[in-house]
Order: sequence, then structure tokens, then C-alpha cells
Amino acid sequence: MGIVDEDVARVRDDSDIVAVVTQYTQLRRVGRRFSGLCPFHAEKTPSFSVNHEEGVYYCFGCGVGGDVITFVREKEQLDFVGAVEWLAHKFNISLRYTDSNEGENRRRKSRLQDAVAQAVDFYHDRLLSASDAGAARSYLRQRGYDGETVRRFKIGWAGDDWDLLARSLNLSDKDLIDSGLGFVNRRGRQQDAFRSRIMFPVFDAQDNAVGFGGRNMPGAEGPKYKNSSESTVYAKSRLLYGLNWAKTQVVEADEVVVCEGYTDVIAFFNAGMARAVATCGTALTDDHVKLLRRFARRVVLAFDADAAGQNAAARFYEWERAHDLDVAVADLPPGVDPGELGQQDPERLRKAVSGARPFLEFRVERVFEAADLGSAEGRARAADMALGMIAEHPDPLVRDQYVMDVATRCRIDVDLVRTQLGNRSASARQPASFASTGPGPSSGSIARPILREGPELEALKLAAQDSSSLADLVVPELFTDELAATVFDLLGRHEKLHEVIDAGGPEVGELVQRLSVEETMATPIEVAARLWEPYLERLMSDWKAALAGAPTSEQADIFREHTWLRLKLEEVRDPSRQARAIADLLGWIEAPEGEEQS
Ligand code: UTP
Ligand code: MN
Repeated sequence: MGIVDEDVARVRDDSDIVAVVTQYTQLRRVGRRFSGLCPFHAEKTPSFSVNHEEGVYYCFGCGVGGDVITFVREKEQLDFVGAVEWLAHKFNISLRYTDSNEGENRRRKSRLQDAVAQAVDFYHDRLLSASDAGAARSYLRQRGYDGETVRRFKIGWAGDDWDLLARSLNLSDKDLIDSGLGFVNRRGRQQDAFRSRIMFPVFDAQDNAVGFGGRNMPGAEGPKYKNSSESTVYAKSRLLYGLNWAKTQVVEADEVVVCEGYTDVIAFFNAGMARAVATCGTALTDDHVKLLRRFARRVVLAFDADAAGQNAAARFYEWERAHDLDVAVADLPPGVDPGELGQQDPERLRKAVSGARPFLEFRVERVFEAADLGSAEGRARAADMALGMIAEHPDPLVRDQYVMDVATRCRIDVDLVRTQLGNRSASARQPASFASTGPGPSSGSIARPILREGPELEALKLAAQDSSSLADLVVPELFTDELAATVFDLLGRHEKLHEVIDAGGPEVGELVQRLSVEETMATPIEVAARLWEPYLERLMSDWKAALAGAPTSEQADIFREHTWLRLKLEEVRDPSRQARAIADLLGWIEAPEGEEQS
């Protein structure tokens, strides 16, 4: 299932990894590799490396690594086939599919997306020029949307007709239904899904048109918004309105603003903050957060987080922990949504984001704002309420910061506050909910194979960067570290790094990617000598024991071999003779058992 191997290989070899990575972060050439700030985690000094020739990347800071396909999968949130297609499209490489069904499914999906894209244009043109769109135009103008805004977000108008769009698109019944654009009525006639609505088109993160949110005109009957129905192209639990436009600035700022509605997103853009997104009529899910984490480490919630309430706290902390991100709450005036605020006071909207605070701080502040801090009872009550919230935070270090703050503000002895908190913490937090999901693949806390500095590591670096460099000098037996021996062996067997990664599994893959971008000053012969030396020492100490336990008839042979090895060890230690000695040793180690040494 999937794309023909040959074509995947072509995509891997012909896609320029540096060109792809520089879409997300700036790279500078440093010797044989390129280096820059990691596009997967926030950092101030570059620890992200790309090896152009081998087509791989690795981050010394957060441990992510892979080839050009992995990179696109991670950054664009695509599956393997999707990432290969993305690259093939970018670098003009044609693909063949192993399973014609699969190719068919993908073609079908892109045909449906094309239909939605046509609908976007259709509705947009209607809004700009149709005579029945006059009321919609003036409504939008009155809300502060000028022509530029309407064009930027491709806002449209679905007129008050049964089948205006359906007639214009002329799709098969099945495509009309599957694209979510319409349905077939009881008399077998095609009908449009949206009527008399202002249309906010929704695009996925790769800028494919996938659906709509259709807003009623004020005063009209029915729900204020009608959203596209769930379909092959429209999966609302993973879609975020605005991400296609926002992602550049989201990456730059390492921050994304999450709001509730289409008009809130637009308000942020119009206030000069082009890094806002919204769910499409659903709550923010774990999938949404995972998607956002690919682009930024800080999430600012720009909706009434207080109303999201008690349950929300556990979810926010869990996201912070599981996805290694910070959740903050925008400082919005109570009861005003960003859409309205943006129209009245764009400066205040910007301040809401720059003044965003951690969720717990936000909640505790709310308590103090409402409290009567002038009376002893009032202070005690405020402390008690605040402690209830603090107790929910999973991190004891964070909790204690707040404890000290509460103690000061409520004039209570800090140790008493700690004791009070201790009594509540155990019951307030529910350990089960925090153990439910493990860290995702891009989380910074994955266990990484650690190899100590030394000749074994240097040897692997050399081999990863040029597998032939040690081919006539070193054998896997010389390594004491099992992982190192495996990796060295695999590097010798496979020509391409990605083959090594495929053959060796994740642990090997991780190590190999790191190695391939690490600098080494050592020369192959130096490294080889430093591997042979301890190997020979180990061997000789074993052989002393062997000599002691051997029958007299064999002792002479063992002794002779031991003498020969001691000679080679001396030669290996001598730079002028080590090359020759290593050649002898290789001949010896590779000779079949029992063959005589000359
Ligand atoms: P709002 O009622 O806040 O709408 O709902 P809004 O986006 O601010 O629109 P304006 O400013 O009143 O024009 C927030 C979001 O909830 C979803 C939509 O995604 C909307 O953007 N929603 C709302 C629905 O899905 N259906 C509805 O009936 C109402
Ligand atoms: Mn609104």
C-alpha cells in the first residue's frame, strides 16, 4: 500500500532538504553542515543541524531528527504518503502508487478539495458582485470589514436559492454530497447545503479548501452558524480556522492565539496579529493542541477561560505536560469577545495578548480581584479559594510559588499555607488523568540513547558521514557498547542513511541522525588505533586466563599468539607503524578459525 518504493526513494534523494527546512528556520553553512535555530522547539542559540549531502537533520537540544520526509511529516502534520506527496509536488516529481485504490482515494480527496475550492471562489465572487449580496456587503462593512479583509479571508455569500452553487459546479451527486457542498432532495434534485449565509471558507494547514462556516444575517432564523458537515475533507477535530494564514507568524513568534470564532480570528489579523486560529464550532481537542505544537510552544487562549472552568484546568495542565508547551490566558476585558474588542480598540486587543498570563495566575488573580482583602475573614476566604486552584497544578515547584504569593497577600504564615495546601493537594489532583497520555513524538523529553565521548563515538561519526572511511580499519567486534556495534555494522551494510534507519529502528535512527551532523576532528586511522588498543588489551588479559587453564599441548600455541598480539599492540600505539599493524590485525580477525598466522 502506498507509493512505489522507487518513487519514494526519488523523492527522498531529489528533495532539497535545505530548501525545505529554510521555509521554517534560517540556516547558515558551518563546515560540512548547515545550522540554525530548531524549528521544533524554542531556543536562542542554534542547536539544529542539517547534513545536506545525506539529507538528514538533527537537533542537539530536543533530540528530533530524521530525513526530509520525516521533517515534512512533523512540520506539516502529514502521514508518510502525504509528506511524500507534498515533496513530490514541491519538487515536481511524479509519483506512482502501489495500490490503485490508494491512489484513487487520494485523487478523490483532492477532487473534493478542488470542488470546495471552486465553491470558495463562487461564493466570494457572489459577495463581491452579485446584486443579491448588497445586504451582506453592508453588514460586513458595518462590522468594519473592508474589501481587503474580505479578499484576504475569501469571505463569500451564498444567496437565497436552492441550487445556485450546485448548478454552477455541476458535480456528480456523490461528489456534491461528499464534499459537503450539497445534497440530493427527495425528488432527486441537487440542492445547496448553504443558503442566505455569509461564508467563511475554512482551509487546512496546507492551504487546501476544505469547508465553510456559514453565518446567518442578523435577525434571520435558525442557528447563527452552520458549519460544513464532517467528511473526507472536513474533519473538525483536527481543523483550525486561520492556521493556513497564521502559521508563518505563529512560527516566527513561537506563539499562537486560540480563539473561539471566525470573526475573532479576523479581528486579530486586522489588529496586526496574524497568529490567531479558531476551532470550527467545537471545543479545543488534544489533536488541535498537538497540531499547534508543531508550530509554536506557547498557546494563548483568547476566550473566556474562566467559563471553561474547573474541568479546563486539568486539561490545560495536561497539555503543558504532555506536549511540552505553555498555556496562557489573554487578558481580555470580561464579557467582550476579541471580534468586538478588535473593532472598538485594536490596541487593547494587542495588549490582551502581550499581557497574557499563565492559566493559574489568571485564576488566582480573579479570586483576589473579587476578594475582600480588608478583613481577616475575607483574606482567609480568598486564601482558601486560591488554594483550591493551586492544588490542581501538577508541579510542586509551581504550586509553591503561588503559596508564597498567597501567604503574603493574605498575611498568613507561609508554612501554615503550605500545610493547608498539602491537605488538599492529594485529593484535588487526579493522578489518573495525568497518566493517560504519554509525551508525543515531538516532545522534548524523549529518552535518547547516550553514547559517551570517546573513540567509539568518534568512529560512528566518521562512519555515518562516510561509511567507507573506516571500512578497512575497524570491525564491529571492537566496540564495547552494543548499540555502537550494531550501528557500525548497519552503516557498513547499507549505502544510504535512511536504509540504516529503517533497518535499525528508532533507537538506531535517532543516534545515526545525530551522528551524521556531528563534527569530528579525528582522522580514521587515529580512531581505529584507539579502538584496537583497548580491544587487544582485553583480549590479552582473557588469554592469560586461557593459558592457565589450557592443556600443556596447546599452551605453546596460545603463548605464541599472545606474543604476536603484544607485538601488534605496541605497533598500534606507534603512529608510524599503526597502519600496517591494523592491516595485519584485520587479516587475523577475519581469518577462519584455526588458520595459522604468519
Ligand atoms: P460566536 O457566537 O461567538 O460567533 O460563536 P462569532 O464568531 O463571534 O460571530 P459574530 O462575531 O457573532 O458574528 C463562536 C463560534 O462558535 C461556532 C462558530 O464556529 C463561531 O465562530 N458557532 C456559533 C457554531 O458553530 N454555531 C452557532 O450557532 C454559533
Ligand atoms: Mn462575536
